[in-house]
Amino acid sequence: MFYHIENIKNTVIQGDALEVLKRIPPEVFDMVFIDPPYFLQLKRKRLKRWNSKTLVKGVFEEWDRFSSFEEYDGFIESLLLEVRRVMKPNATLWVMGTYHNIFRVGKIMQDLGFWILNDVIWVKTNPMPNWLGVRFTNATETLIWAVKDKSVKNYTFNREYAKSFGIGKIGANVWLLPTCSKKERLPHPTQKPLELLKRVILTSTKEGDLILDPLAGTGTTGYAAKMLGRDFVLIEKNPQYVQLIKERLSLPS
Ligand SMILES: C[S@@+](CC[C@H](N)C(=O)[O-])C[C@H]1O[C@@H](n2cnc3c(N)ncnc32)[C@H](O)[C@@H]1O
Repeated sequence: MFYHIENIKNTVIQGDALEVLKRIPPEVFDMVFIDPPYFLQLKRKRLKRWNSKTLVKGVFEEWDRFSSFEEYDGFIESLLLEVRRVMKPNATLWVMGTYHNIFRVGKIMQDLGFWILNDVIWVKTNPMPNWLGVRFTNATETLIWAVKDKSVKNYTFNREYAKSFGIGKIGANVWLLPTCSKKERLPHPTQKPLELLKRVILTSTKEGDLILDPLAGTGTTGYAAKMLGRDFVLIEKNPQYVQLIKERLSLPS
């Protein structure tokens, strides 16, 4: 039985996205933003900085653990298939990641028929150093921006807004932004900066559009959507994060 979209608009649904999405009617969203587990495979819970021997905060959460690449790929594929079903024909999809997962995600997207419009490189102006000093500091994350298939031409791209940042006459795919400031930080290890979501939303949606974030975390997507006059549906399986979202977005509990 499908939800009535009006009943879930501007709410957060607690549950497993793979199950919840099945209850959403087809072709309802103008834009989808996915910030998935990156499957970082951090084994050592106690990662020490090489210079001070103090501990580094990593992502050791259960939701970032998969038994193999195969299991990870299966999760991403199932999620993308459901997401594709609920996207309007001219909707766009953003999926982000790092070198840990983004190549796999991109391949799966292409195999499923999504047509990639851009890979946007987020350059962190305040990256966390490589504390062990054994390789380059990893200062970037990648956002893949795509449509359902190659035939889609009438998607939203606000190029006047895109011009206001980045290099080039119509904006470029390199975005320089800091990570979350201390003031912005909530108790979640992978919270994304509000400014990043503002750029995503303002470049690829219009006022009144409906946005989905099926792995909502602290609800940054919904928070930015509300601020910018867009509607949203958030899904998050962890009840603590759901509570945090409700407080952050002043949603009824
Ligand atoms: C990378 S975080 C998202 C962070 C978010 N963009 C923010 O700014 O706070 C991914 C989130 O997905 C949630 N998650 C993982 N698997 C899920 C699933 N199957 N269904 C719903 N939520 C899931 C996790 O609990 C986690 O909060």
